[in-house]
Amino acid sequence: MYAERVLSGMRPTGALHLGHYHGVLKNWVRLQHDYPCLFFVADWHALTTQYDDPRGIEQASWDMLIDWLAAGVDPERATLFIQSQVPEHAELHLLMSMMTPLGWLERVPTYKDQQEKLAGKDLTTYGFLGYPLLMSADILIYRADKVPVGEDQIPHVEFTRELARRFNHMYGFESGFADKVEAALATLNSKNRRSYKEARTRFQQNGDKEALARGKALLGEIADLSHEDRERLAGSLEGTGKMILVEPGYLLTEESKMPGLDGQKMSKSYGNTITLRESEASVAKKVRSMPTDTQRVHRTDPGDPARCPVWQLHQVYSDTVTREWAQQGCKTAGIGCLDCKQPVIDGILREQAPMRERAQIYLDQPALLRDIVAAGCDKARQLAGETMRDVRAAMGLAYR
Ligand code: TRP
Ligand code: SF4
Repeated sequence: MYAERVLSGMRPTGALHLGHYHGVLKNWVRLQHDYPCLFFVADWHALTTQYDDPRGIEQASWDMLIDWLAAGVDPERATLFIQSQVPEHAELHLLMSMMTPLGWLERVPTYKDQQEKLAGKDLTTYGFLGYPLLMSADILIYRADKVPVGEDQIPHVEFTRELARRFNHMYGFESGFADKVEAALATLNSKNRRSYKEARTRFQQNGDKEALARGKALLGEIADLSHEDRERLAGSLEGTGKMILVEPGYLLTEESKMPGLDGQKMSKSYGNTITLRESEASVAKKVRSMPTDTQRVHRTDPGDPARCPVWQLHQVYSDTVTREWAQQGCKTAGIGCLDCKQPVIDGILREQAPMRERAQIYLDQPALLRDIVAAGCDKARQLAGETMRDVRAAMGLAYR
């Protein structure tokens, strides 16, 4: 059975915090058990906005890779690599740039949004306009089926889908396509052949989307089908030519509800974060200096957890008994705020302990990290190379 491939990337923006852990990384760790996963550092994407000061990107990339491993991303299960070390991404980006309408790029909502948000920076560059195109290359080059992303990135995945469709439409014909489809069909057993043809007819004559989905699922289940034939049958099913690039789906990562030190969502731009590998002393200090219910001025004043950001952290880190104790103690002035904060500190440290331990392995032996990433880059280059061979051939650049 063909296993659906998951791919996601992250820009190296500095030490990851607990919001990233609860939002993105826990999800990646879960996914790696169910799918072949590729996770990469989007260092070229960082360059689109940091082109004037690129020197921190390399260190930020290594630090972020350690954070991923610390969070439990397992290099035995997932392939970890760095975008710029797989130059095939740039080749696909270039080739697709030839057929990408300018208007499509200008209409991607993040284009204007980010320019407004980062108003101090000149983002009227060629590279920044191409941000979604580069992301499309990242996705399409691995023929990823599922892309876990936050809501803000969904327009980029939609853009990628449209682009894949346009590409397949433009370059997907092959001489003798119909005969090759017939030859591919002849390799199927009669039951599968019948189901395939039925799905194809229903979709093409009646526009039955479910039939299309059934047909695609069927192709996914047939194990002994060559990659080329799978593309042909997928293309014939949809009524286009050969399907060279696969339209990806996305997996929406629910927005992290992780509260920061001030009760707002944890975010670097609010300066309210605790990093994954924050020192124990710093965690304790940050939590101890958190604001509490402003109406609880004196130790003897009763308070209300509903008005207190510490209570939000109890909801992440404390069990029911502790939460009950905090509620009671706060409302009756039975406990002080420092008492109340201690279990939160303990909870964060407990969560961080295995992360700190895993990170230490790579801090002590940087060569280990380099090896994992080198192997990941090799694997990625190999997969990317397969797609590029098809892309070059489809565009008449095989030179064989
Ligand atoms: N643009 C993504 C972000 O800012 C990062 C990214 C780059 C990405 N290429 C990707 C995510 C490919 C998923 C797939 O979050
Ligand atoms: Fe907040 Fe706890 Fe203090 Fe109440 S006792 S105000 S919940 S820190």
